[in-house]
Amino acid sequence: MDKQKQDQLKKEAAIKAAAMVKPNSVLGVGTGSTVAFFIDALGQRKEKENFSLKHIVTTSNRSKKQLESLGFKVDELADIDQADLTVDGADRVDDNLDGIKGGGGALTLEKNVAVNSKKIVWIVDESKLVHHLGGFALPVEILPISCEQNFKRFEKEGLKPQWRLDENGKRYVTHYGNYIIDLAIDPIPVPDGLADYLDHTVGVVEHGLFLNMCDKVIIAHSDGTIEE
Ligand code: 5RP
Repeated sequence: MDKQKQDQLKKEAAIKAAAMVKPNSVLGVGTGSTVAFFIDALGQRKEKENFSLKHIVTTSNRSKKQLESLGFKVDELADIDQADLTVDGADRVDDNLDGIKGGGGALTLEKNVAVNSKKIVWIVDESKLVHHLGGFALPVEILPISCEQNFKRFEKEGLKPQWRLDENGKRYVTHYGNYIIDLAIDPIPVPDGLADYLDHTVGVVEHGLFLNMCDKVIIAHSDGTIEE
């Protein structure tokens, strides 16, 4: 699928999700190119319907800046109790609505907002769909202090670690000053086993396996249909 077509699909899924947002609710907003279309659509609703939200929390400075440029006030997660709804993108989604996230490097805040949301909706184009999780290297946010040891440990475990690099070829640094190691294991044979292993590995801040979290996926297909 070419980029123009893919962007069109992302936009369609985003517009559908923006229509689901209830006025005066607490909204969580994710990160990524699909979410950028969602924020635009939300801005258009704000203009047309003059609706407002009780609180908005977001998962990256990119999304925060975009929301603020459209006149939304953005709060910190610590300022709210729970989001009523969080809308986010995903890198891969399987048949059980489990996903890989973190392609944009915002996985830690994304997971924290997700677990503090009553309802989670992902917006994707059909290229993100898989029957079994894989097809995208799994992002793992890692503390710099023990990153070399963890990299070697992942190598020994056969997880095919790769340092994520920035546009200057330097190690990518997250919002929290950590590194990202992408695990190129594909497919992921037992996602919950790997999630458990990573959850118990000292030095791992967060990983991009989002299991049993998503309530609904809005999928834009290239034949023009939108599936929910
Ligand atoms: C960022 C994410 C994004 O939601 C994911 O990478 C999808 O991005 P895009 O909508 O640009 O394809 O997890 O950390």
